[in-house]
Amino acid sequence: MNRLLPFLMGLFLVLPAWADDTVAGETVDATHVVMHKNPGCGCCDSWAEHLRSHGFTVESIDDPEIVAFKEKNNIPGPLMSCHTAVVEGYIIEGHVPASDILRLLKEKPENVTAIAVPGMPLGSPGMEHPRPQDFNTIAVLADGAAYTIFESHKAGEDFSAQ
Ligand code: CU
Ligand code: CU
Repeated sequence: MNRLLPFLMGLFLVLPAWADDTVAGETVDATHVVMHKNPGCGCCDSWAEHLRSHGFTVESIDDPEIVAFKEKNNIPGPLMSCHTAVVEGYIIEGHVPASDILRLLKEKPENVTAIAVPGMPLGSPGMEHPRPQDFNTIAVLADGAAYTIFESHKAGEDFSAQ
C-alpha cells in the first residue's frame, strides 16, 4: 500500500490534464451552433441534422437577408454557399463536415475567422448524393480576402457519426 500511494497520487495529477483534452476534442455537448439560412432551404436542415448527430446543438434562423449576413462576416463571394453559421465566434459557411468544425475549435489557427465549403458539393454533409464529388474546406483569414485549404475531402468519404 505504501508503494501504491505515490502511484495513485500521480494518477490524480495526470487525470485532470487528460480530461481537459477530452473537453477540447470530443465532448461537444456545450457546442452551440446558430445557423442562418434562407427560409425554405432543405439542404440547410439536413446539414443541421448532420451536426446534431455529432453532438452539436443547432439553432436555425430564417434569414431572407442571408447574403448581407455573409458579406457582413467577410465571406468572399466565391466562397459563398447556402447557409452561414456561427459557433464560438467562428463563421461556418456551407456544408462543412462536423469533423472540420471540431478541428477548428481545437486548433484555433491564427488569423482564421471562418471556414467554408463553397457552393454545394454533391456528397458533402447534408448534400448526400449517389455521385459524390471531391471538395475542399477553405480557411478564411481575418481580412476576408486571403484564404487557404483547411482540409481536402475525397468523394465518397463517410461523414456519419461513428
Ligand atoms: Cu445547401
Ligand atoms: Cu444550407
